[in-house]
Amino acid sequence: CGIVGYIGERDAKEILLKGLEKLEYRGYDSAGIAVRNEEGITVFKEKGRIADLREAVIDDVMGKTGIGHTRWATHGVPNQVNAHPHQSTTERFTLVHNGVIENYHLLQKEYLPGVTMKSDTDTEVIVQLIEKFVNDGLTTAEAFSKTLGLLHGSYAIALLDAEEAQTIYVAKNKSPLLVGLGEDFNVVASDAMAMLQVTDTYVELHDQEMVIVKKESVEIQKLDGTVVERDSYKAELDMSDIEKGTYPHYMLKEIDEQPAVMRKIIQAYQNDAGELAIDSNILEAINASDRLYIIAAGTSYHAGLVGKEYFEKIAKKPVEVHISSEFGYNMPILSEKPLFIFISQSGETADSRQVLVKIKEMGHKALTVTNVQGSTLSREADFTLLLHAGPEIAVASTKAYVAQIAVLAVAATVAAKHAGHDVDFDLIQELGIVANAVQAMVDSKEEIEAIAKDFLETTRNAFFIGRNVDFFVSLEGALKLKEISYIQAEGFAGGELKHGTIALIEDGTPVFALVTQKPVALNIRGNVKEVVARGAKPCIIAMEGMEEDGDTLVLPKVHSLLTPLVSVIPLQLISYYAALHRDCDVDKPRNLAKSVTVE
Ligand code: G6P
Repeated sequence: CGIVGYIGERDAKEILLKGLEKLEYRGYDSAGIAVRNEEGITVFKEKGRIADLREAVIDDVMGKTGIGHTRWATHGVPNQVNAHPHQSTTERFTLVHNGVIENYHLLQKEYLPGVTMKSDTDTEVIVQLIEKFVNDGLTTAEAFSKTLGLLHGSYAIALLDAEEAQTIYVAKNKSPLLVGLGEDFNVVASDAMAMLQVTDTYVELHDQEMVIVKKESVEIQKLDGTVVERDSYKAELDMSDIEKGTYPHYMLKEIDEQPAVMRKIIQAYQNDAGELAIDSNILEAINASDRLYIIAAGTSYHAGLVGKEYFEKIAKKPVEVHISSEFGYNMPILSEKPLFIFISQSGETADSRQVLVKIKEMGHKALTVTNVQGSTLSREADFTLLLHAGPEIAVASTKAYVAQIAVLAVAATVAAKHAGHDVDFDLIQELGIVANAVQAMVDSKEEIEAIAKDFLETTRNAFFIGRNVDFFVSLEGALKLKEISYIQAEGFAGGELKHGTIALIEDGTPVFALVTQKPVALNIRGNVKEVVARGAKPCIIAMEGMEEDGDTLVLPKVHSLLTPLVSVIPLQLISYYAALHRDCDVDKPRNLAKSVTVE
């Protein structure tokens, strides 16, 4: 799930390991590095954490060139053999790869019939193909480019040739990859964060490009050999943003940052006159469209569901919200003038990107709402709105979710005014109230930790219910809990639970109910009674003004459309403490990746 590479004068090992540690947050299940020196190439790889890899690395093996990898298994189980780097039969070529090669079986059959594979991975086929073409008489660069031309699928690749000390060969298609520039050295990384330790200057790579990286030069080529010139840029990341500081976990740090993120968004989207504003091209695109299609995955999809409320209720614009992995292959009948809105914290999710590529081919316009400037989805869309949440490192998304909702509220409100609709609230003021309410919630950690212990310490499952926007937050609350505590959890529309799922309610089953929407407050309380009658243990989280005796937690009052920004906070904290008390690895939950760059 992440790649690093170094070529220069220093010992590559430590730079690679540090780089991989910075990529840990993306999620992985094995890791490895390859270091090149006069004696050849040495590979170290391990299943498990970078810490395990560190232990396996022999200190005496020094080398000034190397590549490294964290793997999130797609083809082949996570074990030491399937971990990267992979080597060709003679071990002349060593390679790391992110992505999925769809036609690897065909390539193996056609070109490598006599070659015994060491692993079950699609990746090994790439390195074996390169060796085959070199054996057939091509140079390494020619063999690399020929191989790339045969691959179908996604890849970010770094390749070492044992007979060529001075080069790392690099290529990219669909999966993210950058080259970082230094004095007397150059680096390769999936994410600038990995190599910020040595440089803040990067060059973007585009799909179907190959790069020859040497200590003192970087040459980008298209697959047909044409050389491409491209300016570098400075990565605007602050090391302190990506350090945990005194926090035990990134997730807790990021939960705590949420009031500041709200304030940052209010500030970032204000013009000189103190009014909320966004790029007029975006407003025109929204208002010229007859329907918005929000496309996203995971937590971002849940934020999109809330966003639909905003565009429909405030800006009177019809909206459909779709899961990106479904949309591309099962497209609904589109309206005449659709505008696509991609929501993605990372801006790299492959499922969303394949939709972007398809709708661009159809000639439609796209807006990306993302936390990462310069990310693939941002670059390839017509417009971008930034989340201003600062780097989100914990796999379970928290501050990006509230930032997405707040930015969608801003966009819907400004678009509504632009279209001449009446907006009967002052969003700047309302978001200010939200920031304070979020602060009050993050300050209630002790109370919320006690709830987590009481309800979740031993349970095997849990339910989250709500109506209207509370339903959407229930989905997110359940997802958070599943992701980090591994408790089986489901979010439900309060009225729907009785149509089947209520069969799962047993004595003591925790049911978290959100009550923030006045028009349906009585109905959701009715649903709580239904589950209590069947033995459930209810945790009622109600908004001030709607609370009743016996409720578990009261949320400070905010505007009825903005309640998700506040009601999600205790759910994030409940998940955090549930995971903590169940001894789970909060920041790096099993099987998950932060940024999933495969479809
Ligand atoms: C992964 C993460 C989720 C995230 C989803 C979408 O599955 O584990 O937390 O919500 O991808 O990511 P994106 O970066 O597109 O928002």
